[in-house]
Amino acid sequence: MLKIGVLISGRGSNLQALIDACAGDEFPAKIAVVISNKPDAYGLERAKLAGIPTITVPHGTFSSREAFDQEVDRHLREAGVKLVCLAGFMRLLSEQFVRGWKDRMINIHPSLLPSFKGLNTHARTLQAGVKIAGCTVHYVRPEMDEGPIIMQAAVPVLAGDSEENLADRILVQEHLIYPAAVRLIAEGRVRVAGETCIITGSGKNSGISEALISPR
Ligand code: GRF
Repeated sequence: MLKIGVLISGRGSNLQALIDACAGDEFPAKIAVVISNKPDAYGLERAKLAGIPTITVPHGTFSSREAFDQEVDRHLREAGVKLVCLAGFMRLLSEQFVRGWKDRMINIHPSLLPSFKGLNTHARTLQAGVKIAGCTVHYVRPEMDEGPIIMQAAVPVLAGDSEENLADRILVQEHLIYPAAVRLIAEGRVRVAGETCIITGSGKNSGISEALISPR
């Protein structure tokens, strides 16, 4: 059973997707702790409802980014975490922290990386006029939204889409691929080779959202 730690700052819908997946009988991972940098993050309620230990580490009370990161690191290690999942965690992590969790920390981002890194993703996606948007689960590197890609799902951009419509459509896929990526990792099927991931083993789950694999 892979012990995961989830870092959040807000709503926590991806955390909920992970909670729901972990509740499944044969899911190979378990959430050991949920850590938020914001005391009022709704995701903390979701974790409590599921009986998962929660910790708030308010970033404003630390003298430096490094001091905050060290405290988060300590809690993760104390909980026996082997994989860190960033789920709407809105703080940049120090290089030292990221290196300490290299290839053991993943993130979900609402675009088809390497396009549209950073904030205001949906607005920039619409502005660019791309016809296919999507989401990506990737290992974390010190640069924002960089790192070996584990899984992606594509989503059409429809005429007249608002940021909200597009975000909602992408979020449905986020909630599918985040648990699916955790499962791949827990099953030992993800190998980092240079700056890409090789997904091993046969079967339909090979790094592309299952929703995209058309039935024959
Ligand atoms: C998601 O869109 C995720 O891709 C991005 O932040 C948002 C978090 O939403 N990194 P939630 O808190 O999981 O509902």
